[in-house]
Amino acid sequence: MILVVGNWKMNPNSPNKAKEIFEKIESKVKNLKSEIVICPPFLYLPILKPKIKNLKLGAQNIFWEEKGAFTGEISAKMIKSFGAKYVILGHVERKKYFSEKIWMIKKKMETAQKENLKPIICIGEMKKIKDPKKILKKEAIALIEKTKKLPIFAYEPCWAVGSKRPCPPKRAKEILDFLKKFLKTKILYGGSVNPKIAKDYIKAGFDGLLVGSLSLNPDQFSKIIKSCL
Ligand code: PGA
Repeated sequence: MILVVGNWKMNPNSPNKAKEIFEKIESKVKNLKSEIVICPPFLYLPILKPKIKNLKLGAQNIFWEEKGAFTGEISAKMIKSFGAKYVILGHVERKKYFSEKIWMIKKKMETAQKENLKPIICIGEMKKIKDPKKILKKEAIALIEKTKKLPIFAYEPCWAVGSKRPCPPKRAKEILDFLKKFLKTKILYGGSVNPKIAKDYIKAGFDGLLVGSLSLNPDQFSKIIKSCL
C-alpha cells in the first residue's frame, strides 16, 4: 500500500480553513487503497479528527526530550495525545532555517520511536550537485547506526522542494536504487510532486510521496493519490 504524506508546513492561517481543507480531503480519499497522512501545524492537531481508516495525522517536528525547560518546543507525547501517528523529522526547511543537524534528527527519531510514532526522516542533497550518492549514504548511515527499528525515509532533493521543478523520475530512480541497497525500509519521494508526475515515482519504485504545497489543495492532492493507484 502506498503512503502519501501531506506536509502543510505553516499553513493555512485559520483553524476553520484547516478544518475545511481536511474535511474536503477526507471526502475525496475515502475508500482509496493508500495510507494518507496529513501533517498540519501543531495547533491544528486537536481540531482535526480523521473519521476514515486510511487517513491519519502526523506532525512536522518534535523535540527529543520528554519534558522540561525547552521553551517553544513540543514533545512526542504531546503530539501523540492529540492523535498523531507519524512525525516528519529533518525536513530540509528545518535544516535550512533552524540548522538541524543529523545528530539532532537522530535523537528526535529515537524519541519518536520510543513513543511508537512512525518517524519519516528526510534526507537529500542541500545543493544541486552531479552525484549526491556519497553524501546521502553518509547521512543515512549516521541516522540508522545502532538503530533497532528502521524509520521511513523520504528522499527530498532540496532544490526540488517548493521549486515547482520536481526531480526527474529517472534521476530519482537512480538515487532510490542506490539507497535501497542499504536502506531496507520504505522510501518516499518529496519535492514539487504534482498530479502529472506523481505516478512516475511510484513506477520507479518509491513506496509513496511526501507532498508539500499541493496537499493544501484537496482536488490536486486527491488527484495525486488517485494517479498512483
Ligand atoms: P513541495 O514540498 O511539494 O511544496 O515542493 C515538498 C516538501 O516539503 O515535502
